Amino acid sequence: MGKLIKRGNLYFPDKEFKKRAWINNNSIYKEASKNPIKFWGKLAKELYWFKKWNKTFAHKPPYFQWFQGGKINISYNCLERNLEKRRNKVALIFEPEPLGEREIKLTYYELYRKVNKTVNALKKLGVKKGDRVGIYLPMIPETIISMLACARIGAIHSVVFSAFSSNALKIRMQEIDAKVLITCDGYYRRGKIINLKDGADKGIKETKIKKVVVVRRASNKIKFVKGRDCFFDDLIKEQSDYCKPEQMNSEDKLFILFTSGSTGKPKGIIHTCGGYSVQAYWTAKGIFDLFDDDIFWSTADVGWITGHTYSCYGPLLNGTTFVLYEGAPDYPSLDRWCHIIEKYGVTTFYTAPTAIRMFEKEVGKVKENLKTLQLIASVGEPINEEAWKWFFAQVGKEKCPVLDTWWQTETGGILITSLPGVGPFKPTFAGMPFPGVQTDILDNKGNKVKANQKGNLVILPPFSPGILRGIYKNPKKYKKTYFGEYGDKVYFTEDIAYKDKKGLVRIVGRADDVIKVAGHRLSTGELENIIDSNNKVAECAVVGIPHKIKGETPVVFVVLNPKKKATEKDILKLITEGIGKIAKPQKIFFVKDLPKTRSGKIMRRILRKLFTGEDLGDLSTLANPQTVDEIKKKIKK
Ligand code: WT7
Repeated sequence: MGKLIKRGNLYFPDKEFKKRAWINNNSIYKEASKNPIKFWGKLAKELYWFKKWNKTFAHKPPYFQWFQGGKINISYNCLERNLEKRRNKVALIFEPEPLGEREIKLTYYELYRKVNKTVNALKKLGVKKGDRVGIYLPMIPETIISMLACARIGAIHSVVFSAFSSNALKIRMQEIDAKVLITCDGYYRRGKIINLKDGADKGIKETKIKKVVVVRRASNKIKFVKGRDCFFDDLIKEQSDYCKPEQMNSEDKLFILFTSGSTGKPKGIIHTCGGYSVQAYWTAKGIFDLFDDDIFWSTADVGWITGHTYSCYGPLLNGTTFVLYEGAPDYPSLDRWCHIIEKYGVTTFYTAPTAIRMFEKEVGKVKENLKTLQLIASVGEPINEEAWKWFFAQVGKEKCPVLDTWWQTETGGILITSLPGVGPFKPTFAGMPFPGVQTDILDNKGNKVKANQKGNLVILPPFSPGILRGIYKNPKKYKKTYFGEYGDKVYFTEDIAYKDKKGLVRIVGRADDVIKVAGHRLSTGELENIIDSNNKVAECAVVGIPHKIKGETPVVFVVLNPKKKATEKDILKLITEGIGKIAKPQKIFFVKDLPKTRSGKIMRRILRKLFTGEDLGDLSTLANPQTVDEIKKKIKK
């Protein structure tokens, strides 16, 4: 096992680390940037293709394609491709939340059989290539099985985070016209059983869902609708254990995952079969240095992109054993996550700054030695220096590189991070763009900024294979959001960043109205829409303010309609029903008016600054500057 060498405030991997790593030489960056298309093409060959592509990259701005003409199936690559060498190797370890319950281990062969049976069951329900299937499931093996089963027949899966409300489920299922929903009776969260079926029943009203497949997980009482509902295990029991994988075109849709943006409605991000597979496979391998003796644990829920790429596809494409944990990392006590690392001998641990900060505050010193860990990694929002140092010292015991990985739902896989066999690791800096990825930091006019100057992070052609190919049913929004800022050949990330003199990138935060609450991506616009939809509310503004553990937390300002009354509770109910408990605001203020420009635009920036203590700037351009003082007084109270 290697050591880290400290030079100034940078850490470098030693010879041992380099020896183990897939990528251990700086020269790969040069090689890749000379011809990124060729570079990705070479990597793509490591996967199994039914038919090789004719053209590696084709660009018709703002659209582009990878591996044109190629035929592939990601489930084949996750399953069959591993059967020869790893038939009886454990693919997935399921750790249930209740301590009394035993873990479940599925080998690659067992997983293969279950996926095939599930495919045959879905077919029996009428699911065909191109159909959309909703997956509203927590972190249980059937979630992974269902995703792979959809991918195997070319049905497009759309996973909805199980902590999202039934309304959130409904608008997503309506948007994609899903035919079938896979859900479960219930699941465990902090010792309680959450009745998910209840949420599913409400969420599918007014949708085109005809069949609901219910996984038996918590044996809680549920409403069962005859003719529409069926149980997962009953359905797959009878099925044969083989179904030929569909030969998918590279550019066929693999899945749609909704995410939040600047506007009120979530966006259905489209990922495709070829490019996404290559991105997931190679980033998981090259960044997490996956080898056959690794046990990989990503704590991200499959309802988010991190869960898709690194709690499912990435490890499976690499034939890795990975942990799938059902519950809260601090349940029933704060050392649960340490126990999971020790119980399975986890070698790579991937988590989020919000969890790191929570453990830093609550645990302080980690007494477990966590000796199997080799790499630790973070994702989702900027990691502050204190949290980085704590993670490095207390979890990594100063011997594991901290990989601060930057990416987005839209990019499909990690795009910026230091590599374990190359380094350097610098607190709060994500590092260098992954080989084959070209980024830049531009000012508002489109000029490159100098070192240490902030600007907009952009990605340049040929982008990378895993980047989104569109927003479902909304090409206009795709163009405007990602290729609207600097023309149709430059992908705008909507993140603010800067580079140090060595070219290491530090992400500062978002340039738009997206906020990160405990790592969850939420849009203030979406929250505002939900609150505004109530007839008691005249208007409202939501801003994200800094929070010590969650990173950010929403604060809501509501202006009520004359003569109408509403309480904090009413507003809270709107939010939890509209999105879910994860969007619960820190505080709700009822105010007379909101600060606005003369043209009527709400100045959210000013509201936010009232909490951060930053200078409010020139208020004279406001139509109603006196409201700022009134609101200030309310906040002080
Ligand atoms: C946004 C994307 C894709 C992983 C999970 C989040 C922020 C992500 C980092 C990081 C600083 C980060 C960005 C990005 N972000 N990783 N390592 N350092 N910020 O995916 O929910 O689509 O959010 O998360 O602002 O744009 P997501």
